[in-house]
Amino acid sequence: MKKNIIYNEDMLKGIDKIDDNSIDLIVADPPYGLGKDYGNNSDKLKYKEHLEWNYRWIDAVIPKLKTSGSFYIFLTWQYSPEIFSYIKTKMEMLNEIIWDRRVPSMGGSTRKFSSVHDTIGFFAKDRKKYYFDLDSIRIPYDEATKKARTRSIFVGKKWLELGYNPKDIWSISRIHAQAPEREKHPTQKPLKILDRIIKSSCPKNGLVFDPFMGTGTTAISAIKNDRNYIGFELNKEYSLLIENRIKKTKQELNYNLFL
Ligand SMILES: C[S@@+](CC[C@H](N)C(=O)[O-])C[C@H]1O[C@@H](n2cnc3c(N)ncnc32)[C@H](O)[C@@H]1O
Repeated sequence: MKKNIIYNEDMLKGIDKIDDNSIDLIVADPPYGLGKDYGNNSDKLKYKEHLEWNYRWIDAVIPKLKTSGSFYIFLTWQYSPEIFSYIKTKMEMLNEIIWDRRVPSMGGSTRKFSSVHDTIGFFAKDRKKYYFDLDSIRIPYDEATKKARTRSIFVGKKWLELGYNPKDIWSISRIHAQAPEREKHPTQKPLKILDRIIKSSCPKNGLVFDPFMGTGTTAISAIKNDRNYIGFELNKEYSLLIENRIKKTKQELNYNLFL
């Protein structure tokens, strides 16, 4: 099986290119069923068809995971109850992470509360065996907080030195139009989110599988964090965009492109 490759292909058609029990981490950010334009019809299915399609690809990717593997899926509230319930019949659910996109308060809905979050499900194949490295993603305390916790019950506590668990509400700004990492894609995810997922849930030199690469954020994070990647993207233009993004990242990291 090849590694560090993204196939410009429907993931359901290409899934046999990936060996069973070979993947450390799946990160999936499928079309949300909200009618976004990805240059194809993938986000235009009706409620029932959208759910059935999700169940099909989920069934196809789970066998690819090692026993120690984890699966993260990005969703919105519109479909997360059904899709989480479905995955829970096959895997152990560990977290529902709320990604607060830090949407500024400007007008918004007038007949209900404005929706400003995405939902990320975190599942493990085996609750006792899944890989998780909390220390790599702890958030350091600032000096003032550390100082405020000098009471004897805190002295010598590992978490005070290493930082705290990021918890399950992640307040990370969505990518603005002017942001340096911005690519031409309607639902590009911030690298900061992928870094946190990959560092905590895939060992160094392990293999991350993203069935819906979009702009290749998962691949970029894998490269930056010394992990391998594999994945699919249906849209030819996005696939070319990913190739360029990977080339640029490797240049920035001073990779020897001739190796
Ligand atoms: C939500 S976006 C992923 C965005 C990505 N996480 C990023 O940070 O750029 C979903 C992507 O899946 C692609 N896609 C939709 N159906 C697909 C399929 N059957 N196989 C492979 N890719 C597909 C779309 O073209 C779109 O780019």
